[in-house]
Amino acid sequence: MSVHKAVKRVTVKVLHEMKQRGEKIAMLTAYDFSMAKIIDSAGIDVILVGDSASNVMAGHETTLPITLDQMIYHAASVIRGTQRALVVVDLPFGSYQGNSKEALTSAIRVMKETGAHAVKMEGGAEIQESIKRILSAGVPVMGHLGLTPQSIYKFGTYVVRAREKEEADKLISDAMLLQETGCFAIVLEKVPAKLATQVAASLHIPVIGIGAGGGVDGQVLVLHDMLGINTEFRPRFLRTYANLNEQISNAVAQYVSDIRSTDFPNASEQY
Ligand code: KIV
Repeated sequence: MSVHKAVKRVTVKVLHEMKQRGEKIAMLTAYDFSMAKIIDSAGIDVILVGDSASNVMAGHETTLPITLDQMIYHAASVIRGTQRALVVVDLPFGSYQGNSKEALTSAIRVMKETGAHAVKMEGGAEIQESIKRILSAGVPVMGHLGLTPQSIYKFGTYVVRAREKEEADKLISDAMLLQETGCFAIVLEKVPAKLATQVAASLHIPVIGIGAGGGVDGQVLVLHDMLGINTEFRPRFLRTYANLNEQISNAVAQYVSDIRSTDFPNASEQY
């Protein structure tokens, strides 16, 4: 008899039930097997293989350079480390904006080559055709509105979005449109809390916020930011839960010192 107890996977349906019950959804990014394994067993509901990998993994200034092949490599590694979380993968810049056929091809590659459960795409009305086509292939889509980093050169800055009425109205109508099109959830990034609360209250699909206040259905942060690995990035919305930069740095300095002093390895650390 097997003693292995199967872990129940979080699904899109589970997330909808959580919203209905008023239970908050916890989402984090991950880009590799080891970190995904840790956060999955710690109880995270959704893991986003974000194109923020371009920043935190590859050291680029923006999310634009990361390729579909690179996202697939990260996503396949994350999937191997998870048993419980729903894994969502960002379609990277340039892999879905051209036309809906290209978007579908990109989404199918992600699903086939990684084993992930959904894709995320930035934008509203302008990408509706691509979202429709991906959904028609049975691939769940998460939307992303507000600050959309793939359009950073259009905005020119990472400041809070939709403070003005015109942009707030467009965001509300895009959120409704994404819901009507069939997105299973929406990320709202860096928008006023009042607006995000209003959007979450008017939609029946979950709204996950980052820098969007506490009135939404869940929260997402970039793992390396909340673990204090990235020390340069300190926006107001970020809460850090560890200071891994200092801890890793101290551990490595100690290791270097132990080698130089011949303390490591000692008699019990050899064969
Ligand atoms: O790529 C990413 O990490 C994201 C989150 C900031 C939502 O899209």
